Amino acid sequence: MSDTPVIEIRNLHKAYGSLEVLKGVDITARKGDVVSLIGSSGSGKSTLLRCCNLLEDSQQGEILFKGEPVHWKGDGHNRRPADAKQVLRIRTNLSMVFQQFNLWAHMTILQNVMEAPVTVLGRDRAQVEEAARGYLDKVGIGDKCEAYPAQLSGGQQQRAAIARALCMEPEALLFDEPTSALDPELEQEVVRVIKSLAQEGRTMLIVTHDMKMASDVSDHVVFLHQGLIEEQGPPETLFGAPKSERLRGFLKSTVHA
Ligand SMILES: Nc1ncnc2c1ncn2[C@@H]1O[C@H](COP(=O)(O)OP(=O)(O)OP(=O)(O)O)[C@@H](O)[C@H]1O
Ligand SMILES: [Mg+2]
Repeated sequence: MSDTPVIEIRNLHKAYGSLEVLKGVDITARKGDVVSLIGSSGSGKSTLLRCCNLLEDSQQGEILFKGEPVHWKGDGHNRRPADAKQVLRIRTNLSMVFQQFNLWAHMTILQNVMEAPVTVLGRDRAQVEEAARGYLDKVGIGDKCEAYPAQLSGGQQQRAAIARALCMEPEALLFDEPTSALDPELEQEVVRVIKSLAQEGRTMLIVTHDMKMASDVSDHVVFLHQGLIEEQGPPETLFGAPKSERLRGFLKSTVHA
């Protein structure tokens, strides 16, 4: 069943109180797909990503992980995932990389990368350490294992956060604006790592303001507008021949951003 999507979201609705943020969104990512989510501030991109790995509840619609639907109990604003084990399994398989890195300040970089695989997944410490060193090498900071986050540049911290996500050996990676807290020159270090992950066939969902990266790495780009998909397609079409007036306006406004 290699054709079963890793992530499938169908008709997802999410509100915070009376504020409807997602109004029926469908997203599919098959193995090896890189799907980018773009859109104005407040359009619901982060919310969608957080719903996807069940960090947020949603009120309607389905979320399927490798064909397995999330089990719910309750309805509407009372809807919650019904199975804590399923939530943990899905969440540990969809590793998230945040804009603000979220590294533990009191742990070394190596300890940060090893923490979840050892404590959450119960993996063998020596094996995790070997893997962690390998992932830190892969993102180009193998020499920073013993450093603390505050001793690293923003770009290095974000690459440590990517190594930490990889060390979970997830089915897919979810990125929420991985480069937008970084100065332009540090941003490029992180973009290079994301490009190399795309080339090795990782399944990724990427929320980004970086249209060049979205254009370079994506198989599919989704433009969200006020909680709905306004337009989607391959990057060549979406960026090269946008149909919607709103998307054209959005792209114009980001050219010089
Ligand atoms: N925890 C929350 N409680 C209430 N409202 C929220 C919460 N999180 C987000 N929102 C609201 O939901 C809407 C969508 O927010 P979201 O963070 O998903 O947007 P975004 O597309 O990621 O924007 P940005 O590009 O600025 O990151 C916004 O109006 C926001 O104010
Ligand atoms: Mg956001």
